[in-house]
Amino acid sequence: MQSLEKNLIVALRHATAAVHESIEQLPIMCRIMSTTVTRIDYYHYLLVLRELYTPLEAALYTTVAPDIQMRLGVRPKLPALLADLSEQATFNTDKQNTIAALREQILLAPAIQDANHLVGSFYVLEGATLGGRVIARHLHKVLGAELGGARFLDFHGEHTSAVWKQFAGALDELCAEGYLEPNAVINGALATFADLYQQLARCE
Ligand code: HEM
Repeated sequence: MQSLEKNLIVALRHATAAVHESIEQLPIMCRIMSTTVTRIDYYHYLLVLRELYTPLEAALYTTVAPDIQMRLGVRPKLPALLADLSEQATFNTDKQNTIAALREQILLAPAIQDANHLVGSFYVLEGATLGGRVIARHLHKVLGAELGGARFLDFHGEHTSAVWKQFAGALDELCAEGYLEPNAVINGALATFADLYQQLARCE
């Protein structure tokens, strides 16, 4: 049996499997994965994620040391998300109101400081690119060319596995070097998932 230090990514997957499943079952996610999903649903989803990713990525990329970011192979996803949003640019007042309400709640979110917690958050955002690829494929099937570039959902494209492997390897190295404490990273990932769950659950 492998220790947490040798395969933190597997421990993270097991520890977060239940909350991931609950997220998949949220109405907003069921809508996006349905066979009747529309371009407006996709637009709404991007708007919601913009509000979640803006404060989270700002905290992560200004707090985690640049060399650690480089070793993990992480890059902000917000520019891709904003590009997809402008490509979709379909103004919808109702959806904007939903987002305004969500924004007020997110501003109350506590600041994240600890390196383990921050890396746990990176796990959630990087892992989301795996599921994002699956969602992008589904949307392409239903929406065809209307999906546009899907730069955010299919962030790493054909490099997805390679990037994930680098991320997983870096986690183990950082644990072996004593920079990360596996259980604290897992707690950070769980806390991030719990925040995302609550925020996504509120926005329907
Ligand atoms: C309808 C919604 C979603 C679906 C269908 C979905 C689907 C998936 C799938 C299929 C994988 C495994 C990919 C693989 O092994 O190649 C995955 C992994 C993952 N997803 Fe999602 N996902 C969804 C939403 C999310 C959201 C909103 C987040 C967080 C923002 C998220 C975070 C993760 C993480 C962290 C992993 C990595 C698990 C691991 O360690 O292997 N997912 N998702």
